[in-house]
Amino acid sequence: VIDIRKLYAETGYFTYDPGFTSTAACDSAITYIDGDEGILLHRGYAIADLAENCDFLEVCHLLLNGELPNPQQKADFERTITYHTMVHEQLAKFYSGFRRDAHPMAIMCGVVGALSAFYHDSTDIFDPVQRKIAAHRLIAKMPTMAAMAYKYTVGEPFMYPRNDLSYAENFLYMTFGTPCEEWKVDPVLSAAMDKIFILHADHEQNASTSTVRLAGSSHANPFACIASGIAALWGPAHGGANEAVLKMLDQIGSVERIPEFVRRAKDKNDSFRLMGFGHRVYKNYDPRAKIMRETCYQVLDRLGIRDEPHLAIAMELEKIALSDEYFIEKKLYPNVDFYSGIILKAMGFPTSMFTVLFALARTVGWISQWKEMIEDPAQKIGRPRQLFTGYAARPFVPLDKR
Ligand code: ACO
Repeated sequence: VIDIRKLYAETGYFTYDPGFTSTAACDSAITYIDGDEGILLHRGYAIADLAENCDFLEVCHLLLNGELPNPQQKADFERTITYHTMVHEQLAKFYSGFRRDAHPMAIMCGVVGALSAFYHDSTDIFDPVQRKIAAHRLIAKMPTMAAMAYKYTVGEPFMYPRNDLSYAENFLYMTFGTPCEEWKVDPVLSAAMDKIFILHADHEQNASTSTVRLAGSSHANPFACIASGIAALWGPAHGGANEAVLKMLDQIGSVERIPEFVRRAKDKNDSFRLMGFGHRVYKNYDPRAKIMRETCYQVLDRLGIRDEPHLAIAMELEKIALSDEYFIEKKLYPNVDFYSGIILKAMGFPTSMFTVLFALARTVGWISQWKEMIEDPAQKIGRPRQLFTGYAARPFVPLDKR
């Protein structure tokens, strides 16, 4: 192993690695990925085992505290999270400052960052108690704030959280419930929601998590750091891909037109890419995509949706792409976002909410990674270097001579 710091001190060399394709920026004990084998472990547990046997808050406890909770710890953790589910009433007023047609991710960037203007007793990053409260607040308030973003854009009244419901049920209630009618939980849909949250909970040093770590490395408060992660997640090459997949399936329109779009995806002169395909780390089937596909069938079956047009196109697209030389050679497999959009649409979410749901679920991963970084004695401010390609020093030219 080359000690880059020593090499730089001795030689003045440093590595040039745009996109960090082969540069580790930290050590971490949270999430392990073997991209060639399609393996994803959180604190040593396989994602399939967690998705099958745990609820989302158990996975949150695991990521944040290092271990799955025992029954007493689980009850305590649930009590702590539900204690924090409401947001400051003044924060609710923020929403009315946005246009009704604002993208909910734009709203989330603003309101999550604004938490630091309300919860001053959890912004001291050097106090372990405050760090813990900040983490609990973020996990607890994200569903409330996400549901409020949805309610605001559709013009319905905000719903207060119901702490007798599970995390996923409560989110569905705040999103789709109204004050005028009794709201009934559909266990298949809330289980699917919970699974979607688990599948998105953490994914080591992706673009948004690295953004959270970089912002946190300057000792910015945790709410500001998570807002920076939300901004990074929004892009279609990252968390925005689930929204982009549905738009692409719409654009393809029918199974007959798939070959045309596969051809376009392979054409280097065409900027079109098959959204939901490819991953920086997975060069095999994304293990989350397999679980997502099964969940998709369960939800559509429950809702009695037999001929979902997006699903038919998605399945055929997957079949064609996976047998195509280009996709095989470049190891482009469906990723987690490929099927999640179809499930979310069937559940009634507008496409603009898809990435918000991703942000909601990823918050626990972000804050766990942030906490790990702050608690690392070797932590330093993140400060990438550059290869300068501009002008060498040149004489100044006064305004009247330019
Ligand atoms: N469709 C067609 N070709 C693709 C695709 C795709 N979806 N993805 C990658 N390729 C090709 C590239 O053109 C490139 O070809 P080349 O070697 O001939 O130049 C090669 O595969 C490698 O692609 P890169 O972009 O260099 O790989 P990188 O690791 O930088 O990008 C990314 C990964 C951004 C995920 C990319 O695969 C992509 O844009 N996919 C579509 C968007 C998407 O689904 N994003 C979600 C990722 S998962 C997540 O964030 C939760």
